[in-house]
Amino acid sequence: MKSLQIKYDYTNLLAENIGKHGISMNEINNYLELAKTYHQNLLEDRESGKVGFYELPFNKILVEQVDKYVKKNKDKFENFVVLGIGGSALGNIALINSLKHSFYNLLPRRIRRGPRIFILDNIDPEYVCNFLDTIDIKKTLFNVISKSGSTAETAAQFLVIIDILKRKLKNKFIRNLVITTDKNNGDLRRVVNDYKINSFMIPSNIGGRFSVLSSVGLLTSGFAGIKIKNLLKGAEHMLSVCNTDNLIENPAYLNATFHYLLDTKKKKNISVMLSYANSLYYWADWYRQLWAESLGKNKNKNGEQINAGQTPVKALGVTDQHSQVQLYTEGPNDKVFSFLTVEKFRKDRSLPKFKGKYSSFDYLSGHKLSELFNAEMKATEYAISSKGRPCCKIIFPKINEYTIGQFIMLYEIQTAFAGELYNIDAFNQPGVEAGKIATYALLGREGYIEKTKDIFEKEKERKMI
Ligand code: PA5
Repeated sequence: MKSLQIKYDYTNLLAENIGKHGISMNEINNYLELAKTYHQNLLEDRESGKVGFYELPFNKILVEQVDKYVKKNKDKFENFVVLGIGGSALGNIALINSLKHSFYNLLPRRIRRGPRIFILDNIDPEYVCNFLDTIDIKKTLFNVISKSGSTAETAAQFLVIIDILKRKLKNKFIRNLVITTDKNNGDLRRVVNDYKINSFMIPSNIGGRFSVLSSVGLLTSGFAGIKIKNLLKGAEHMLSVCNTDNLIENPAYLNATFHYLLDTKKKKNISVMLSYANSLYYWADWYRQLWAESLGKNKNKNGEQINAGQTPVKALGVTDQHSQVQLYTEGPNDKVFSFLTVEKFRKDRSLPKFKGKYSSFDYLSGHKLSELFNAEMKATEYAISSKGRPCCKIIFPKINEYTIGQFIMLYEIQTAFAGELYNIDAFNQPGVEAGKIATYALLGREGYIEKTKDIFEKEKERKMI
């Protein structure tokens, strides 16, 4: 399986190669001892049960539960729809897009061998209503996912759906629902208990953005026919690779340290994940949440105001070469780039062999699309790095469950370690909670009257023309 290990190439993060905007090996070496301490801190968080994502690859009981549930229900429904947002949706979207056919829902059922999969992660009224126009709700299984069980968006979607289901299916409506939420807490868990709805649980020590390998992502994967055992094996493999306090040998710790130093010492406060695979593009979306919510913090653990965090940006190769690369090579040198690249694509196509009189076409003769695609990736890496802009590569030998599992674990560990470097709590999200509270206040939820007054006071000061 060694040949199926994803690789981390940090050549073009090094000052030795890109000049003064890079980080020298000496600067990295300064963190060798600290890395040991941070590794110990993370180990303690893991062993004490404070942080739970490390244990997800080993949950064999959950795999059995998911398999059983999927087997029983897969053929009963035309559609499987996730209602959720943030960490309760982004990983699921990325899993489907990276591990299934690019146009999965358009394939005939006999080829799909499972229901169509939709992940409704917004409450834009037109979007929700238009979506409802396209499905037969009686033939749809809704997976409501919310760790807290109280997120306004998911609650609203749930209420819309339950209202329609009740009208169409009367007292049989619960057959079309499965709820994924905290084991004991929250109103969704109460709904599960009151109505005896099928449910899966999210461990209380796993936050939304670290939950893709829990029931949150595994149930959707199961319905899509993704090999969840291999996904977890990949994650377990990366966990073992990263189970060392030797900074130089630990890809998660090393990439975190480079990013931290680039941000704090070289003013690279934007981190662009540039995917050279359509199928990996949604992992850049997942990364945006993971990196932004975990590291974007007002105060450090000592209570000092630091306003930490790099702004994560997603981009797609080659499409964004014709949109963003001008800025990336010549605009402000305030970014670090992470290329996601693939050595062997699952499908490929050769261009026909020909020789004609058109120099714009002739050089393409006989080449594969993958050759052109990866040549453009290398050319972009060259263009960016030769302008002294730091970039690294995460190289997938090929995309499958095993390598995607590795990628997930690599970035989760990297994020946890970056939290140590910034000395912040990477596992809370007070800023997200603040937005949730303001929403409750605006919609008149009981107990939020003071916040409502404050928001309306501020509204009076609005300036517009
Ligand atoms: O990472 C997080 O904790 C958040 O972004 C949540 O995923 C998001 O707010 C949705 O929360 P919940 O799953 O509780 O509905």
